[in-house]
Amino acid sequence: MSRDQEALLFAFLALIGCLPFVACQCKKNPVIFNFGDSNSDTGGYSAALGFNFGYPDGRTFFHQPTGRLCDGRLVIDFLCENLKTSYLSPYLDSLEPNFTNGVNFAISGSATLPRYVPFSLDVQVLQFRRFHNRSLAFQSKGFKNLVSEEDFKNALYTIDIGQNDLTAAFNSLSYADVVAKIPTFISEIRDAMWAMYLVGGKNFWVHNTGPLGCLPEKLGTRKTNATDFDQYGCIKSLNDGAKAFNAKLDALCQELRQQMKNATIVYVDMYSIKYDLIANSAAYGFKNPLMACCGYGGAPYNYNPDIKCRDRGCNLCEQELAYISWDGVHYTEAANAIVASRILSTNYSQPRLGFNFFCNNA
Ligand SMILES: *[C@@H]1O[C@H](CO)[C@@H](O)[C@H](O)[C@H]1NC(C)=O
Ligand SMILES: *[C@@H]1O[C@H](CO)[C@@H](O)[C@H](O)[C@H]1NC(C)=O
Ligand SMILES: *[C@@H]1O[C@H](CO)[C@@H](O)[C@H](O)[C@H]1NC(C)=O
Ligand SMILES: *[C@@H]1O[C@H](CO)[C@@H](O)[C@H](O)[C@H]1NC(C)=O
Ligand SMILES: *[C@@H]1O[C@H](CO)[C@@H](O)[C@H](O)[C@H]1NC(C)=O
Repeated sequence: MSRDQEALLFAFLALIGCLPFVACQCKKNPVIFNFGDSNSDTGGYSAALGFNFGYPDGRTFFHQPTGRLCDGRLVIDFLCENLKTSYLSPYLDSLEPNFTNGVNFAISGSATLPRYVPFSLDVQVLQFRRFHNRSLAFQSKGFKNLVSEEDFKNALYTIDIGQNDLTAAFNSLSYADVVAKIPTFISEIRDAMWAMYLVGGKNFWVHNTGPLGCLPEKLGTRKTNATDFDQYGCIKSLNDGAKAFNAKLDALCQELRQQMKNATIVYVDMYSIKYDLIANSAAYGFKNPLMACCGYGGAPYNYNPDIKCRDRGCNLCEQELAYISWDGVHYTEAANAIVASRILSTNYSQPRLGFNFFCNNA
């Protein structure tokens, strides 16, 4: 390669950011503050409630309880690996948390509403603001290895929430009423992002919500009209609800890009990534896209609300590669790895910035 070609290649790499599976280092320590639900909970629920999610969770990677509702790593873990930084410590970790690369406020079961209940999005933001205040207070007392004022400004603020709001709404409301309620969820996300911005945050990474109607838990428990299945066997109305939420979330990102001076807001279409994984599951090596690896009852969904994964008597698949769904609600590590690589491709991002964009600016 000539000098010019090299220069071109570097310019190209800088432009598109990180390639999948090629770790892009950061020029400075990447700091990430994550907010959300079980899709990105690296142990917060377990720390908060003293609840031990043991085997089979963790069986393929960590081989010990971590509080992740998964057989291994979550998407957020793969994203951290890509930046060559440690996995995020849960905010509520009481023993030797390492917050120098950020904090994970995500807690399983969290939603945007209702407010002021552990651990809704606004409570996660209150925790974050307390963390910010105390970090600065301790720093002024001379403590080292804390998140600095500069770190708060340069950090990436990642958000992945909404799935539990939609689930709760669909459990009690008609489709029209669910859709009518979506702006109230979006409003909470708007408030959360403004709170982060007011603390100095200007780099945001927002995941939209996945295809709810393709989850084995939904397929195995909801009475579904035969006309309400799509060509891949997912529940259309639930997926339409997810898409309606995503349209509003996309609009929120566009609105905030106009209003927040100097902010960069990357909106990532998780829905398309996950739906593509289910629609083309065989091409990715998966055999049972709508069936839980861990559950009860066998095909077609291996999901029984009375004997769920982690309950006595549940059964467990042998090979995660055949399965996208770990427990009926959460994805397997094998699926998460592919989802993360698609995120890192930037193909599903708006704007198409690499995941390391925030730790490489001047
Ligand atoms: C804490 O995390 C940072 C960033 O990933 C890492 O460089 C450092 O070694 C960790 N510290 C300890 C004590 O593990
Ligand atoms: C953080 O500190 C500011 C000013 O010192 C105060 O107004 C605010 O209430 C504090 N927030 C929290 C969450 O402690
Ligand atoms: C199923 O859907 C069709 C078409 O939307 C509707 O006409 C029918 O009443 C529905 N059946 C039930 C049992 O809800
Ligand atoms: C935006 O960035 C410019 C240049 O770095 C800076 O001068 C300005 O104060 C920033 N504005 C806000 C609102 O942060
Ligand atoms: C990104 O999208 C383009 C065009 O659709 C496709 O050719 C390419 O393979 C995709 N790259 C990745 C890594 O998904």
